[in-house]
Amino acid sequence: MANVCVSLAGISLRNPTVLVAGIMGTNAELLCRVGKCGAGAVTGISCSLEPRSGAVNPCLLELGGALLNCVGLANPGVEAYCIELSKAVGASDVPVFGSVAGSSVEEFGLLAERVAAAGVVAVELNLGAHSCFGRRVWNLEEIGKVVEGVKSRVKKPVFVKLAPSLGLVDNAMVAEAAGADAITAVHSFGPGMVIDVESGTPVLSSRAGGMSGPAIKPLALKCVYDVCSSVEIPVIGTGGVSTGRDALEMIMAGATAVGIGSGVYYRGASVFSRVENEIKSFMNARGFSSLEEIRGLALK
Ligand SMILES: Cc1cc2nc3c(=O)[nH]c(=O)nc-3n(C[C@H](O)[C@H](O)[C@H](O)COP(=O)(O)O)c2cc1C
Repeated sequence: MANVCVSLAGISLRNPTVLVAGIMGTNAELLCRVGKCGAGAVTGISCSLEPRSGAVNPCLLELGGALLNCVGLANPGVEAYCIELSKAVGASDVPVFGSVAGSSVEEFGLLAERVAAAGVVAVELNLGAHSCFGRRVWNLEEIGKVVEGVKSRVKKPVFVKLAPSLGLVDNAMVAEAAGADAITAVHSFGPGMVIDVESGTPVLSSRAGGMSGPAIKPLALKCVYDVCSSVEIPVIGTGGVSTGRDALEMIMAGATAVGIGSGVYYRGASVFSRVENEIKSFMNARGFSSLEEIRGLALK
């Protein structure tokens, strides 16, 4: 019988699926429900120091195989975030990760420290937001400084979430050298845009947004493959995963765990247990007993 447990930066997961940041917000009940639906771990939305109301509607469009969103890091601010996440930690059957989006090196350190103190198992640094979300785009040197700053203040595993930019591999290598415990690759693609031809105006309230969901999977997969070829630390392969085959591709590209976000929209919250079962069926049919035998097959 196939064993799909994984160890991610020292954290044991019953299966490789991880609910990525942003999809279920911060609400403890929702995060716990996703754990009950089979996720191996769950991540809260990214939080900032102060509450952010985010973009007004329309801020999420379905484009036939992809989502375009400009949710804009809507979150209740770190204080309320930590209260809710500590409730999730207390009630969840699976590890809970926090996510932070600072606007300076110092702010990242402060946020990560506070979120770690809320009891989460690991803290993810959102260094991959698009400028269309009103967020800063971080250069190589800044990424190194943010990670070093956080690592000097937080004793828990620190994950670094990166954008699918041209500099992705260099960014991942700098994050690793600065002490990151894992890389989450990748954030949404973009910015992208849809124009209503009747009115001649962009449909999203922020005009542009990030693209996610099944249509981006081949692009995300190549990003994950490139990052896994270049770093030793584990990678959470993210982008467009909604089936067991998608997850297997990410693992064969070298990913240790597999992030699922928009897949919840496309297949419902049961996507996690369905992906787990589809991975197991594949492994059983081909005589694989552990994910170690599959991981990185495409890198050889
Ligand atoms: C509505 C929405 C909100 C998101 N919010 C966040 C966020 O707060 N922090 C973050 O790091 N990524 C955020 N993301 C990006 C996802 O975590 C993920 O990297 C991206 O959507 C690609 O994965 P997917 O195709 O499985 O959705 C968000 C994505 C969506 C669709």
